[in-house]
Amino acid sequence: MIEIETVAAMRAWSRAARRVGERIAFVPTMGFLHEGHLRLVDRGRRDADRVVLSVFVNPTQFGPIEDFSRYPRDAARDRALAETRGVDAVFMPSTEEMYPRTGVVRVVPGRLADHLCGPFRPGHFEGVLTVVAKLLHAVEPDVAIFGRKDAQQAVMIQRMVADLDFPVIIDVAPIVREADGLALSSRNVYLSDADRTAALALSQALTAAHERFTSGVTDAAEVLQAARAVLSAEPAVRLEYLEAVDPTELQPVDVVDAATLVAVAAYVGRTRLIDNTIVGRGLAADERLDG
Ligand code: PAJ
Repeated sequence: MIEIETVAAMRAWSRAARRVGERIAFVPTMGFLHEGHLRLVDRGRRDADRVVLSVFVNPTQFGPIEDFSRYPRDAARDRALAETRGVDAVFMPSTEEMYPRTGVVRVVPGRLADHLCGPFRPGHFEGVLTVVAKLLHAVEPDVAIFGRKDAQQAVMIQRMVADLDFPVIIDVAPIVREADGLALSSRNVYLSDADRTAALALSQALTAAHERFTSGVTDAAEVLQAARAVLSAEPAVRLEYLEAVDPTELQPVDVVDAATLVAVAAYVGRTRLIDNTIVGRGLAADERLDG
């Protein structure tokens, strides 16, 4: 595995691979790797000849009172995990390398940020889309792989690539969970044992929404109510939002019939967690909560 720190060296490596006919898959991350990230690498290895993984804690997607400075970092561990999982190149640029100047031009997500995390994290998705655009330009992959754990982010990236004609395929992979349902996240390390137990309310709430739909209820408010009941039974969980939206435009729906994204964000102690599932008829196996 080669480690690359500059945009120029990254692009040279990718172009050399492409010249000999190799297909490149790219997995962008903020590091502190876990099984959720590593499954994206597995998918890359399945679909391409070379896998590039980036580790960059992007300052522009954190709000002024968010956890940028305390975001967990462990470059040595990330390198080792990436190598054992078969990553060919790990791209670890410094902040100065990614942002040699204060950026003026940014990628804006428009109405895709009107719901879910958008209103609670002003500027976050502009930071995400802008850095993902820059990373895609550095790596020039054939396919870039994202997790459905960050469903709103994945939808925006798919739309950015479509609207702005980026020559890349975006692949979205299922959510990886612990055996008890907790979605894997680098931020789970912040959770105390008690928080960890309380955090189960998020995935349990989504299961309750599923069950309400499966029992024949299609009224979105009623499906959400089933989830809300689970969340409000857990006093350590402070709900930020619980919404049912259509999975391409990310606008609220009144009726759950076609595939509907049910998403939740909540604080458990000081830690903000998100989770989601797709509820509705005719879902592919990997769109279900247990996918
Ligand atoms: P990060 O939170 O490190 O996540 C990197 C990728 O891993 C994202 O595509 C995310 O959806 C995926 N991922 C995280 N946890 C997962 C889980 N439990 N199951 C499946 N996939 C999971 O998302 C970011 O970084 C950043 O915003 C980034 C896109 C790198 C831009 O800075």
